[in-house]
Amino acid sequence: MRQWKRNGQKIAMLTAYDALLARLLERAGADILLVGDSLGMVMLGYETTIPVTVDDVVHHTRAVSRAVRRPLVVADLPFLSYHESVAQAVRNAGRLLQEGGAAAVKVEGGRPILDVVRRLVEIGVPVMGHLGLTPQAFHSLGGFRRQAREAKDADALLEEARELEAAGAFALVVEAVPEEVGARAAAELAIPVIGIGAGPSCDGQVLVTHDMLGLNEAAPAFVQRYARLGEAAITAAAAYVDDVRAGRFGRPEPEQ
Ligand code: KIV
Repeated sequence: MRQWKRNGQKIAMLTAYDALLARLLERAGADILLVGDSLGMVMLGYETTIPVTVDDVVHHTRAVSRAVRRPLVVADLPFLSYHESVAQAVRNAGRLLQEGGAAAVKVEGGRPILDVVRRLVEIGVPVMGHLGLTPQAFHSLGGFRRQAREAKDADALLEEARELEAAGAFALVVEAVPEEVGARAAAELAIPVIGIGAGPSCDGQVLVTHDMLGLNEAAPAFVQRYARLGEAAITAAAAYVDDVRAGRFGRPEPEQ
């Protein structure tokens, strides 16, 4: 991926939580499939990612890694699964790789988790970092808000980004920050910076697939929709309901 960055080849990353969609995203050419803890909100109906457990992520990662061969499967370490101790982080990252079949893990935050990143990388677990809007910090950030809008906060984010790189992270997600912050991170780091609501100058982009496909009406404002599958599903299901109620469903097609 560093080579891709050096060659100016942009990285396309999308979330995947199940085998069916993962197969479609592989066919579409996605480079990285992220089994994000956003699965808690998209698939399980939680308001935030905070209730998501390692068991939840293992379950969905298994489905994704069984389904695809080419894309890199990265799984999120969920809230409080890597904060107690380095040993806890090693144990849970091990589960995502051994039981889930992921090839890498993603962790949120910077300085407080550098020891965790270093140790995981040392023992052979590739780690992707995540700075900016880190949804696991929903309560301390005061909600899902754009980050690093002041110059001093932007500088602090870039400092933590450099520290994550030095600790061995192979890539970094930067979420909901001004375009200039995404551009500076991409210019200053050797590892790929993958943006989500961080402007076009990042080395790659990631979106929650259900938002991008228009399946999730509660998508953040920065999401570019490439389809309106939610509306198409409602129209199709409503036609089926009408057919059933009108007694049209199940009639044999007339002979040609
Ligand atoms: O959990 C997730 O889906 C993520 C992406 C939004 C980057 O962390």
